[in-house]
Amino acid sequence: MSGIYNRKRSHIVICTEKDVAFRQSTLLEEVELLHCALPELDLTDVSLATHIAGHTITHPFIIGAMTGGTGDGNAFNLALARTAAQFETAFCLGSIRPALVDPTCIPEFDVKKEVPNVLVFANIGANQLSTFGAPQILDLARRLADGLMVHLNAGMELIQPSGDTCFSGQVDAIARLVEVAGDFPIVVKETGMGLSLKDGVSLKQVGIKTVETAGAGGTSWIGVETERASGTDKAVGELLRDFGIPTAASISWMHQLGLETIGSGGVYTAMDAARAIRLGSCAVAMARPWLLAYQADGIAGLWALMEELILGLKYLMVCVGVKDISSLQKADCIIGQRLQQYLNFK
Ligand SMILES: Cc1cc2nc3c(=O)[nH]c(=O)nc-3n(C[C@H](O)[C@H](O)[C@H](O)COP(=O)(O)O)c2cc1C
Repeated sequence: MSGIYNRKRSHIVICTEKDVAFRQSTLLEEVELLHCALPELDLTDVSLATHIAGHTITHPFIIGAMTGGTGDGNAFNLALARTAAQFETAFCLGSIRPALVDPTCIPEFDVKKEVPNVLVFANIGANQLSTFGAPQILDLARRLADGLMVHLNAGMELIQPSGDTCFSGQVDAIARLVEVAGDFPIVVKETGMGLSLKDGVSLKQVGIKTVETAGAGGTSWIGVETERASGTDKAVGELLRDFGIPTAASISWMHQLGLETIGSGGVYTAMDAARAIRLGSCAVAMARPWLLAYQADGIAGLWALMEELILGLKYLMVCVGVKDISSLQKADCIIGQRLQQYLNFK
């Protein structure tokens, strides 16, 4: 158990102190939204409300999966939950694996006890689906949250000291989870290397309706594990730390497949969010920027960041001449050549 605590704690330290950002871009800059000089809009008419996994949220800035299970109490998760509740958006817990192994740390994840009105998703790794089994995971997820996000992270596990090296059987395990879950929402997410077209097809076939891209261009999780690795794994980590599908491409593909898509992976500003939404995201999620904002200024830092994102997106929507998220998804734009190459890929 202390191994999981130490790993989760060292992830937070590395993500705070080290340069773990991708050196390659999200390709969101290849989406050029066109300015509208005659918007015929009042700022107060602009609505950022959207839908995610059967729920309506007032603002599309989801707080992505990070923590819980550090053994440090749940101060960070509570601050994130309070922020999500205050701004009527959703929040995803970090992996609940520690709580499945040791029920004494369930309170670290139980944010609803203090913030009952928050829309929260629990989180678990795809490889843990067969370790614990769908019924046990869903029992805990139902107790803590309104839905469950399953994360895929093969690249990160390979570089992680003592990480998993076998990833077969994950699609079947997700299929079984969806079957047992019934109406309880199941979302599948990557963790920074992006979902491919083939991944999207496989997930759709087993009944997944909502995905989070976590594409390349934001936090590199191979980069994070490379900081912890040594010897040959460290050298291979350096080689692979920028490998992955750019966020913009992954979003477009998931949307093209008709999957409800949360755009994430380096979606850090209101401009990034507008571009991700234009490519078909219904909402966006970010992770590391929340951690940095919290480390800098506690919950005030989280609220300031959320306010800046909301105001930025509203102003931008006026400048583009659209008043809601579904209009932004169809706004006039020009797509650059590099992103277009991904969009042409079949
Ligand atoms: C400190 C930290 C811990 C994370 N832990 C988890 C986790 O437990 N489960 C998960 O699905 N993703 C986890 N992630 C990955 C993020 O949810 C996200 O997919 C990834 O960092 C890319 O988004 P970003 O560029 O906004 O950081 C973590 C991210 C950070 C920064």
